[in-house]
Amino acid sequence: MDPIESIAVLRRARAALSGSVGFVPTMGALHRGHLELVRRAAAEQQHVVVSIFVNPTQFAAGEDIARYPRDLARDLAALADERVSLVFAPQVAEMYPAGATTRIDVGPLATRLEGAHRPGHFIGVATVVAKLCHIVAPDALYLGQKDVQQTLVIRRMARDLDLPVQVIVCPTVREPDGLALSSRNAYLSPAERALAPELFAALAAAAQRFAAGERRADALRGLIRRHLAASPAIAVDYVSVADPVELHELDGLVAHAVVSLAATIGRTRLIDNIVLGAP
Ligand code: PAF
Repeated sequence: MDPIESIAVLRRARAALSGSVGFVPTMGALHRGHLELVRRAAAEQQHVVVSIFVNPTQFAAGEDIARYPRDLARDLAALADERVSLVFAPQVAEMYPAGATTRIDVGPLATRLEGAHRPGHFIGVATVVAKLCHIVAPDALYLGQKDVQQTLVIRRMARDLDLPVQVIVCPTVREPDGLALSSRNAYLSPAERALAPELFAALAAAAQRFAAGERRADALRGLIRRHLAASPAIAVDYVSVADPVELHELDGLVAHAVVSLAATIGRTRLIDNIVLGAP
């Protein structure tokens, strides 16, 4: 399928689709996690639209935008076997023409965790997803749980801006050893890749302790930190036990929490999370 680069052409093609539309926004470098989102959308909606756009406004200075993996031909080949009606792959100038200065800031939720370590990141995410939703006009948006804060920010943005779109969060897809699938895993050297499953192992250890009755937020954070400290090549950015909606840190006893972490291995920054006490 030929990707559509122009907003005007995408709008016309979208208008010609009858029935419900599920939308999977991506930055390309598609992996099995993305394909699971596409399959879920295809199972639930009459049409699926996928966007492939490495969004410059969500990368802070010094981040990996220059080396972010880009291979449109490979991504299109991966989508060829899926039930996808349209692929939107605009250039930066199409999404952000000269003089486009409007940005969307969802407030404190976007400044915690990833937002604290990547200033402005979620302003870029909220802005591009809002723009994409206006262009694609989907009935439902499919996002992965691996980027839990992103899912909450986008849900908030959609609610506050009255976007008529349902936000559907799909489970994190993992390698057999537990590593969450991410386009950035491609950066890992073999030695770093061997270490990377420790991130999920630390979260799983906390889940096990929670299942055994541990409810103290500090104890859960401490357990994860100690687990990761056993691998000095893992540099921890944060370990969080947070409110599942606002993502502020929890103290005392927890009944329901998002437990998340970010860590750098070599030059690769990875994130992961689990939810404890989910209803
Ligand atoms: O998760 C991503 O790939 C990006 O943050 C998204 C949602 C496509 C916005 O650029």
